[in-house]
Amino acid sequence: MRFEILVLRVFENLRSPLAAGSEARAEPPRRGRGSVRIIAGMLSLKSASSERWIAQVDSHLDEILIDHAHCEKKAAGTAMNLMFAYVEDEELCQEMTRIIHEELAHFHLVLGLLRRRNIRFRRLTPSAYGRKLNDLVRKNEPARAVDRLLVAGLIEARSCERFDLLRQHVPDAELAEFYGSLFESEARHHSTYVRLARHYASSEAVDQRLEELAAEEARIVAEGEEKPRMHS
Ligand SMILES: [Fe+2]
Ligand SMILES: [Fe+2]
Repeated sequence: MRFEILVLRVFENLRSPLAAGSEARAEPPRRGRGSVRIIAGMLSLKSASSERWIAQVDSHLDEILIDHAHCEKKAAGTAMNLMFAYVEDEELCQEMTRIIHEELAHFHLVLGLLRRRNIRFRRLTPSAYGRKLNDLVRKNEPARAVDRLLVAGLIEARSCERFDLLRQHVPDAELAEFYGSLFESEARHHSTYVRLARHYASSEAVDQRLEELAAEEARIVAEGEEKPRMHS
């Protein structure tokens, strides 16, 4: 299946006035400029990743790959925490079990990739991206549930957008294929989290909050970080 058709299929149920109205403001990387903007918009993101991050990929690919393994592990942990927090939400529990399985499978795949490249998996100081986003989560329910799900969805979206960039950017065929293979499931996770947030607020309220959090996410990602990470 052609990649563009796959992308459109993934986003069939995702399009919303918010997503359609989103515009990429940051200067996108040098390859696939048009598709980067389209994908960022479809994922509710307010910006495309910058040349600064691509330069970090070029100079510190091993570290980015190690951090990617940690991100998959953390994504499984986030889904597990949400399942424990909202255990009375049956659809959420069903979806979280699926996401936990998939994220752990991704973690396993990245560990294999590291091993084949003789890159030692090790502890890394995480980027501040996740903490800064989680600091925006409101304290009282049900707003807290909405925010936790939307923040999880935005992290999935940024990962997905960056996997697409990596797919286009890395000269290594094995890596390009690997990132192409992860794109679809991370995009689906994004749309699942946004859909589940609608269990805890009206569609209009969720769209409005997604707009606010996506703007904050773009601001956080534009701040950037010295440490080369998947979300630096
Ligand atoms: Fe994943
Ligand atoms: Fe994911």
